[in-house]
Amino acid sequence: MSALSFELLKTSSDSLARRGRIRTLHATIETPVFMPVGTQATVKTLSPEELMDIGAHIILSNTYHLHLRPGEDVIQGAGGLHKFMNWPRAILTDSGGFQVFSLSTLRKISEEGVEFRSHISGEKRFLSPERSIQVQNALGADIIMAFDECPPYPADREYVLASLLRTTRWAKRSLVAHERSEEQALFGIVQGGMEIDLRRQAAEELVELDFPGYAIGGLSVGEPKPLMNEVLEHTTPFLPQNKPRYLMGVGAPDDLFEGVMRGVDMFDCVLPTRIARNGTVFTASGKLVVRNAANAKDYAPLDEKCDCYVCKNYSRAYIRHLLKAEETFGIRLTSYHNVYFLVKLMEKIRASIENGTFLALRKQFYDAYGYNRD
Ligand code: GUN
Ligand code: ZN
Repeated sequence: MSALSFELLKTSSDSLARRGRIRTLHATIETPVFMPVGTQATVKTLSPEELMDIGAHIILSNTYHLHLRPGEDVIQGAGGLHKFMNWPRAILTDSGGFQVFSLSTLRKISEEGVEFRSHISGEKRFLSPERSIQVQNALGADIIMAFDECPPYPADREYVLASLLRTTRWAKRSLVAHERSEEQALFGIVQGGMEIDLRRQAAEELVELDFPGYAIGGLSVGEPKPLMNEVLEHTTPFLPQNKPRYLMGVGAPDDLFEGVMRGVDMFDCVLPTRIARNGTVFTASGKLVVRNAANAKDYAPLDEKCDCYVCKNYSRAYIRHLLKAEETFGIRLTSYHNVYFLVKLMEKIRASIENGTFLALRKQFYDAYGYNRD
């Protein structure tokens, strides 16, 4: 068996929404899927048992962070990332390309790779396609990513083109460097900024290389949402039907609907865990700042419509108290609920694709939640 198989179970007649199933060595993943982010080999505040309870079958982690700390040798010594963090289901690691650009300082980019200073120690480090894949082979995730360059927004067309061509050359080098293709599926990443024709070019160049899956990078980098959606709908049509498509770093509730509608199968985003730590939660009727004084004597659950462990057992008033008192249990409860909210939302989206009611669910969701309110 190869490292990954993808089965397309159903397509829609009124949008590009697809219902599929990915199989890897560690999990069967029903798609479309939301992947919680565990940057440093932990989904912040949640245990693997809690993530399984929530219904997550795949999580994301980061090569950049784990390479700098604790180092891939430490993780390889434990028997790989799954054993190290006690997560038996699937893991996807990002390649570090994006994180080098967003987190490190003094980046020097060349054809060979990127020299940068660690955001932790300040030391000079270097990542290249070969190094990134070597690290990802050592970590042992089910799905690994090619080393890419994500242009900033806005960027000149000329720069975006040069960067796209380099990303294709780096994708080829990533493929050559990959030594565990029987166990780990390597995805290519489509770049091309906001230039619609360049997105097509990037997609076609990567499809030529026959990756087992394709990611769409370089979106949600500060551009307006309508522009992101437009670029997206001019990208997915150039990707093969029979391979999974992953929209990187995108996952606000409305983005999930907009992405699914345009043919995306996989999403990841730090949003649920990040806003949870600021005391904000998703609810069926929009975001709620639990931290606010208005909730001081509100004994209702975070979300009346939610049947998660948190909503079954705790009130807004109690959670607000914990957050105000800086008790860590507070952010565990908000994190649990927010991740559950997105994982469940995807379950509902999958069911709606199966019975042909996806667009109706989308409308119903927006009517209650509000469009573009995150
Ligand atoms: N995460 C969010 N966007 C990107 C991207 O463009 N490239 C990579 N490697 N990771 C991302
Ligand atoms: Zn809940």
